[in-house]
Parts: sequence; structure tokens; C-alpha cells
Amino acid sequence: MNTLSAQAGLDETRKFMKERLQGIVPDIEIEAKVEIAHEINRLKHEMNAVILGHNYMEPALYHSIPDYTGDSLQLSSIAAKTTADIIVFCGVWFMGETAKILNPQKTVLVPSEKAGCSLAEGISADDIRALKAKFPGAVVVTYVNTYATSKAESDYCCTSGNADKVLSKLVEDGHKRIIFLPDAYLAENTATQLGLPFLDSEADQKAFDAVPADQPLVIGWHAKCEVHELFTTEDVANIRKQYQDAVILAHPECPPEVIQLVDKSGSTKAMVDYVRDKDAPWYALLTECSMGDNLAAEFPHRRLVRACTLRCKHMNYITLEDTLAALKQCQYQVHLDETIRQQALLPIQRMLAIQ
Ligand code: 13P
Ligand code: SF4
Repeated sequence: MNTLSAQAGLDETRKFMKERLQGIVPDIEIEAKVEIAHEINRLKHEMNAVILGHNYMEPALYHSIPDYTGDSLQLSSIAAKTTADIIVFCGVWFMGETAKILNPQKTVLVPSEKAGCSLAEGISADDIRALKAKFPGAVVVTYVNTYATSKAESDYCCTSGNADKVLSKLVEDGHKRIIFLPDAYLAENTATQLGLPFLDSEADQKAFDAVPADQPLVIGWHAKCEVHELFTTEDVANIRKQYQDAVILAHPECPPEVIQLVDKSGSTKAMVDYVRDKDAPWYALLTECSMGDNLAAEFPHRRLVRACTLRCKHMNYITLEDTLAALKQCQYQVHLDETIRQQALLPIQRMLAIQ
């Protein structure tokens, strides 16, 4: 978490960044970025802006400008309560949309228009309408990693931090056919965790007929996270060979065969909490690689396996330079059609009510 005050001077900012990022970011890079970070903090104070930084932001940004850091659920909850006039979302576009859905009267900025997400782009409102026609009466749960137009077609939202709670609640409420979109792996991993049967929406009709109508069934879609889908069982074996006493934590967007082999699966917040609170000789994170760097900087007494190879190109579009431009030029503003926004708000509110 950033503990640099918004009023910190340039020297204090430099000192904080150098101490915090020692051994993680070279001094020469900090020197190149410190004035930008300081200017962003000065401007955000002047403009009554709040900066939300997702756990996957690059270390120099993550440890200098956000008022709040966290996973998408934490940041959505903060966005729902903020009194700032401007929300700058240092994360990807669907996160900015979620903040705008919750705060229609506020200006929401995402520093890059290119910061997409393979999951959000992997399903459309038309796809969801077709699924609802194929499985009449099914309840639709949509991962927050989707655009507002997809959320607007859904009954509930969930994040990787509460997917199990949302799914359990739907089963408890008596739903028998639960469409879980768009991440094939998050859907299957959550269903497996809860002991529920899972089928891809394109599975053979015989497979659907084999699940009695009075038993719950989770129905998935085929989108995947282009980062987490690349982790393999070989990666787990390599870590176990080199660091026999490492605790391996993986994001539930990883393939099911990987999740079966690791010690714990959870959202980025669950990983932060684990590294902060639980003692282990080593921690290995199977997730987007900036996160390992951010945790190594925040918890220097913890030993993290530094095997960072997979960076999300969308998260990587968010830079300090672009965040400064975002504040100065009030770009890129998230605008949503009001009908879509209201329709998308309902599943988010239902999700937040389940916490
Ligand atoms: P979290 O909700 O765990 O922060 O994940 C967001 C994301 O984009 C994972 O790839
Ligand atoms: Fe989307 Fe994957 Fe990038 Fe997260 S890491 S924003 S799910 S592409």
C-alpha cells in the first residue's frame, strides 16, 4: 500500500520510492520517474482526484501514486464510496467502467484507451442473449472482467475474490442452471471447488441430459485470460524442484490442471493477504508478474520466487506518463449509455450485497 502523502515534496517522494523499491527498480529508473510521480500527486490533490491502482500496476507507479491499491473487488467497493470528484483508475478499461457504473455523476478516467482485457473482449451482449435463449430459465453470473454491455445482460456479477460465495448463494437460492461467464477456467475452478458439475455451453446435448434437472449445473463459456492461460503444470513442477518448501499461490484464471497442483488459489487480494499474514520459507505466485515485484517491495522480509515472465500487455499500457496526461487533459473519460449503466448496476449491486 502506498504510504506516501499527497502533499509530499519531491525529495520526500524520491526518498520513499528509493527505499521502497530498493533491489526491485534500478535507481536510474526511479530518477526518471520521480518528478512525474510527484507532479501527479500534486495535481490529484489540487483536482480532488482519487487514484485507484490495481495490484498489477508496474512497481514504480504502484508504490508512488495510488491512494488505494487492491484487487478489482476492493477497488470497486472503494469507487462506490469515494467523495472525490475525479476517479483515475490505474487498471484496465472494464475496471474504469465498473467505477463509472457505480459513480455516474463523477468523472472516471483510465489513462490508456488501449488497456483492454482478453476476457472482456471474449464475450458480447449478443453472445449472452444467445446463451439465455439456449438455456431458458438459467441464471447468468458474469465475471467483472467484462464490459458494461455484457453486465447489462446478466443477473449477478462476481470477481475472483467472491466467485465461490456468489455461486454458493445461487445454489442455496435453488438455481439449477447457472451460466458462468466468460472465463472458462474461473467457472470450472469455482465449480470444482464447490463440488458442482461443470459443462461448457457447447458440450454435447447428451452431457447436459445426463445432469438431472433438479441438480445444479454450472455452464461455462470459452474465453480465457491471455496471461493466466499460459501457466502450465510444468511451471509448478519446476518451482517445486527448485524451491521445495515454497508455497505456490495461483490465480483462479489459471487452467484447472494447474490449480489442482498448487497450494492455494485466490484473487490478487487473497495472494497479498497470504504473503502478508502467513509465514512460509518461500512464496511463488502464478499470476501477472508485476504483482510479485510489488509484494517483494512491500514485504522485504518475505522471500518471493522471482520467476516473472508473464506481463499483461493491457495493464502495461498504464504508465506514470499517461496518468499525468490523464489528469492534465482529463482523458480518457469513461462514458456509458444511461440505460446500459442502470442495467449493469443491478448485477453489481446484487454481488456487493452478498459480501
Ligand atoms: P483480481 O480481481 O484478482 O484483481 O483479478 C483481476 C484480473 O484482471 C486478473 O487477471
Ligand atoms: Fe484481463 Fe488477464 Fe490482463 Fe487480467 S491479466 S486484465 S484477466 S488479460
